[in-house]
Amino acid sequence: MGHQKVVVLDFGGQYAHLIANRVRRLGVYSEIQDAETSADELKNYKGIILSGGPQSVYDEDSPKCDPAIFDLGVPILGICYGHQLMQHLLGGKVVPGKTKEYGLSTLQIKQPVSIFKKMPPSIKAWMSHGDTVETPAFGFEEIATTEDCKNSALMDPERHFFGLQFHPEVTHTEHGMTIFDQFLAICKVARDWSIEQFIAEEIEQIKKKIGDKKVFLLVSGGVDSSVCFALLEKALGKERVYGLCVDHGLMRKDEAEQVKQYLAEAGFENLHVVDKREEFLLALAGKTDPEEKRKIIGDLFWKVKEDEAERLELNPDEWIMGQGTIYPDTIETGGTKHASKIKTHHNRVDLVQKMINEGRVIEPIAQLYKDEVRELGEKLGLPHDMVWRHPFPGPGLGVRILCSDEEKTADLESNSDYHILPIKSVGVQGDFRTYRHPALLTASAGEDNEKAATTLVNSNPDINRAVTLVGGNFEGELSKVSLKKCSVTPERVQILQIADDIVTRTLHEMDLYNKVWQFPVVLASLSFNGTGEESVILRPIESIDAMSAAAAKLPWEFYDKVSKEILKDGRISAVLLDVTNKPPGTIEWE
Ligand code: XMP
Repeated sequence: MGHQKVVVLDFGGQYAHLIANRVRRLGVYSEIQDAETSADELKNYKGIILSGGPQSVYDEDSPKCDPAIFDLGVPILGICYGHQLMQHLLGGKVVPGKTKEYGLSTLQIKQPVSIFKKMPPSIKAWMSHGDTVETPAFGFEEIATTEDCKNSALMDPERHFFGLQFHPEVTHTEHGMTIFDQFLAICKVARDWSIEQFIAEEIEQIKKKIGDKKVFLLVSGGVDSSVCFALLEKALGKERVYGLCVDHGLMRKDEAEQVKQYLAEAGFENLHVVDKREEFLLALAGKTDPEEKRKIIGDLFWKVKEDEAERLELNPDEWIMGQGTIYPDTIETGGTKHASKIKTHHNRVDLVQKMINEGRVIEPIAQLYKDEVRELGEKLGLPHDMVWRHPFPGPGLGVRILCSDEEKTADLESNSDYHILPIKSVGVQGDFRTYRHPALLTASAGEDNEKAATTLVNSNPDINRAVTLVGGNFEGELSKVSLKKCSVTPERVQILQIADDIVTRTLHEMDLYNKVWQFPVVLASLSFNGTGEESVILRPIESIDAMSAAAAKLPWEFYDKVSKEILKDGRISAVLLDVTNKPPGTIEWE
């Protein structure tokens, strides 16, 4: 394709692909290439961006770029690891940072020039790193700094080289897009990419890949698979795309029916629903490990689909499997060469990966992020409410019901700032996955919780999240907490469906649904002071693309109303509120 383009060299950071998304949002076609791609192969790009990555430049096996890229005469922007690597290769000194920074920092702009043109004196910047640049390489000057990290931004004005210790690609960094916009202006690259272009080009790709075959697509009713369905139909016509919705029993209350209705209203006729509730719940019985649960759900999904294909007598030579996978699903599974595995998304389990490797799967929106998928959905004419539904993970409530293979009872000390809870959840810190405890903050919910959560997680290696208590079915102070052995059972699914339904209904009633991006409701077998056996954790999220997220702040009346209603169920001991950003917490708890 004849676009002028910018390349992102992928050093394995969680956000590498997000950078390409940002560049495309600014109308410039961008591609991801492996970190070690030779300078010779990169000479047609108008600019080079070096992504972040989980390693230190001093690690023996850490990815390096071809040093000859610095002689190509094109502007280069290094981000986080990319910033450190550029300094390391050009003669600067990188050292382990005194403080590992994860989350928001205040960046003081020392020189409002070049990529920082017209910036205010200070901006909030998203950091996730250990090492820092102590001495810049020859030709570089410091253009911004933070309290904990000098040389947070460096510039060589002669060669148009820039290095940023923070992540401008993350939406929670203020003015991040302006920084990219100014870098692209320095690259003097044409702005000729758009979602309309994507549709036209992707339709051609789909037709080429499918030839005269047909597509058998798994549809959940969520945004991604519906948009994928619409795009495939546009390319191939209704008869050649067969949609299958598997009711795995881990959907929201009454959701299977709603999805069918929704999709019918949107004009999808070739859609079929199969009821496999019993099979999924049986397969999950007694299982407690989050990765194992995801694998069971992912494998069973695939098996059900194969069984259906067989029942429908679909000839494998005539059919290709379709999935509405989007980019974060692959990156968090460690799907690119240098990325570290955060968790295996259900559409990347081994069975699926094997078929992908054999070229038997089509994933037409796998390069896109949620914001792009939504724009695509709108352009394809899907109903607004469908396009803006909150994202819901494929394994559904299966990853929102925390399980345990041990029993524990602990005394909670009073008068301290927090209590460590006996459960664990997944998190992400500096490109690595963590599996650690949440801390229950003793202070009541308020503005400072976000800060308290960040400080606590950065300073305590046992903790990756912070929660506050919204309400409880007990009298007086907290003194004890106990955890019981548990897995996914029909009763627990039902308890969570009821709580989740209360949250969704109240969001609509109070006109808050569109103010949050996603709102997982999580069930944990935590009992406080010997009351009800389960606790419900509320996880309201503010995000654009799920790669970074902030705990959404909603009015206290909302939490109060929801909590009182949830607690009417005597099986619930407490309602907690997750106040952790991502990083260090992930959106889901598993
Ligand atoms: P995390 O928890 O990784 O979530 O911050 C990022 C986004 O991905 C969704 N998610 C999944 N979606 N299969 C999916 O289809 C999965 O296994 C899965 N795990 C997380 C999550 O809901 C959020 O929107």
